[in-house]
Amino acid sequence: MKTYNIAAVPGDGIGVEVIEAGIQVLKALAQRAGTFALNFKQFDWNSDNFLKHGHYIPEGGLEELKTFDSIFFGAVGALNVPDHVSLWGLRLPICQGFDQYANVRPARVLPGVKSPLHNGHEIDWVVIRENSEGEYSGNGGRVHRGLPEEVATEVSVFTRTGVERIHRFAFELARTRPRKHLTLVTKSNAQRHGMVLWDEIFYEVAKDFPDVKVDKELVDAVTTRMVLKPSTLDVIVATNLHADILSDLAAALSGSLGIAPTANLNPGKRFPSMFEPIHGSAFDITGKGVANPIATFWTAAMMLEHLGEPAAARQLMSAIEAVTEAGVHTPDLGGTATTRQVTDAVIELIKR
Ligand code: IPM
Ligand code: MG
Repeated sequence: MKTYNIAAVPGDGIGVEVIEAGIQVLKALAQRAGTFALNFKQFDWNSDNFLKHGHYIPEGGLEELKTFDSIFFGAVGALNVPDHVSLWGLRLPICQGFDQYANVRPARVLPGVKSPLHNGHEIDWVVIRENSEGEYSGNGGRVHRGLPEEVATEVSVFTRTGVERIHRFAFELARTRPRKHLTLVTKSNAQRHGMVLWDEIFYEVAKDFPDVKVDKELVDAVTTRMVLKPSTLDVIVATNLHADILSDLAAALSGSLGIAPTANLNPGKRFPSMFEPIHGSAFDITGKGVANPIATFWTAAMMLEHLGEPAAARQLMSAIEAVTEAGVHTPDLGGTATTRQVTDAVIELIKR
């Protein structure tokens, strides 16, 4: 029997609650399938330990993480640690260190969930976010701190290799979808170097995918199209920062940030990939037992898919959809269900 070793990094806030729920659901699935096993190891890399020991990832931590088949990640961020410190201390070293260059963010209005759009049922998108460079390169600096002449730079870095591989990935993914439609999103009217490179490489790569229909939109304009004409979009490829912003909009239009999943993929599988809900730590509801675990379950389905267990992934997705359709909703979706109740409902369906 195939056994997958999964590193669980719950992190901060509701990350702890949703990862615990996700592990229970995944264990139920493996038990039900009987054809594969999942071995979880917990890593207590979080902001409390950062404040005690001065680091998120201990010496040799990334080396150890490398030996796992996948990383199941909750959230990072705490009120008493600056966000850029926690992000660059935990999440980005994994994404960038493991070359997880393709960030995949599907958006769809699940059955029983209400979109703020009257035509929300038309939403069926995948936002592909470049995840290794661009605006998140960390390239820049500050001089003359605190003085009137202080200067800070934040330089986006776009490499031919980085841009070409994300476009290829997006085309490959678009090709597997019924509509086979890929929209390139940049801001190449105002940003005439990096963004123009993005556009050029996109059309070079497009030649290898004649079966994929393409079009192009500026990032500001695509927000209106997402809201007004959702059915005209299918797969979207955009830079690290642009896709970060668009994926929050996509999540909100799909009903809640509490259902939005994400996969940080190293497509060549040289390093483990990382799966996480988009929502973050959510201090306002931490410890109340009402965090929506659906984003984590959906991300778990993406993990199973990536591991090579598509049947289990499909089974999990149908259980999720049956539960949302039945109206077992946490408060973010307008319901009164707890994390526990949603989790139990999903497990119940898996066992059946
Ligand atoms: C996301 C988040 C992160 C990001 C934050 C927490 C830095 O917004 O995954 O979308 O911008 O990458
Ligand atoms: Mg974001």
